[in-house]
Amino acid sequence: MIKDEWRERGFIDEPVPESVELKSEIRRLCKEKNAVIMAHYYTRSEIQDVADFVGDSLALAQQAAKTDADIIVMCGVHFMAETNKILCPDKLVLLPDLNAGCSLADSCPAEELAKYKQEHPDYKVVAYVNTSAAVKALTDVVVTSSNAREVVESFPADEKIIFAPDKNLGNYLNAITNRSMMLWNGGCHVHEEFSIEKIVELKSAYPDAKILAHPECKSGVLALAHYVGSTAAILSYAQNDECDTFIVVTESGILHEMQKRCPNKKFIPVPPLTGTCACNECNYMRLNTLEKLYNCLRFEWPNVELDEQLRERAKLPIERMLEISAAAGK
Ligand code: 13P
Ligand code: SF4
Repeated sequence: MIKDEWRERGFIDEPVPESVELKSEIRRLCKEKNAVIMAHYYTRSEIQDVADFVGDSLALAQQAAKTDADIIVMCGVHFMAETNKILCPDKLVLLPDLNAGCSLADSCPAEELAKYKQEHPDYKVVAYVNTSAAVKALTDVVVTSSNAREVVESFPADEKIIFAPDKNLGNYLNAITNRSMMLWNGGCHVHEEFSIEKIVELKSAYPDAKILAHPECKSGVLALAHYVGSTAAILSYAQNDECDTFIVVTESGILHEMQKRCPNKKFIPVPPLTGTCACNECNYMRLNTLEKLYNCLRFEWPNVELDEQLRERAKLPIERMLEISAAAGK
């Protein structure tokens, strides 16, 4: 029975007795309920360690599309759980805390995009996966940072395109594909915080380090990077490159997997411009805790629900993205 106070909070804060060994209980519940835990690289390390699958946004969507589990627990943020529900309507999709939103997704309300589309009827819409289902339903093709280039290049060179919502990723794509897509003025509060000053300071402390950056960072930051890519691409670059020290300009949760794959290399997180914190964390991703994960598996709540017509419309641009990705070998 789901208590009203939990519904108000958006997660279950039932205290877990100390005697419960959370990780083994979570694994036991997964087995008992045929549930699969998916986690993004930005989540807490203990969440990544207990998950069945850890990946970037593209891999998480691909994995959801092919899972035969009855329950998907998405340890990430709301749009990721929604994407899973869009692709797997018959499965129960759980998100340990419904408050796990995304500032980038919030920067593009569906009503505003719908109005903008009406004002530009001859434009196609390409939207980043970091958007609500309602925005996806207004979109021609979805992209993630792993396949954005291939998706944009799948359109004729003179196609008129609105790219939403991340202006930094959009700027970067315009530069590498030689397009002039119209850009929505959205951004991620974590990646927008990275500053040239802090990176230059770190580079002078570690002169041999290579700089790896996520394309959600501002163009001045990307100009300093030796390599720009999605979380999965940054990871494999670090793994395969001969350099042994990297300055990592993205959410610091990724350092866990980097250190696991490359125990002898050094990874340095970049702090935000202000404050005393040594690294830059996404407060939404960090809402996923072992206690909430355990409780949501136990009570099979909170789950993500979608209106069926909206889901059908939002599914098409995701499927197009998955097709273009597969054709590009991604
Ligand atoms: P990836 O596509 O690299 O996973 O980036 C996702 C993201 O923005 C999560 O914040
Ligand atoms: Fe959204 Fe930024 Fe957090 Fe990614 S890091 S989930 S884009 S707020």
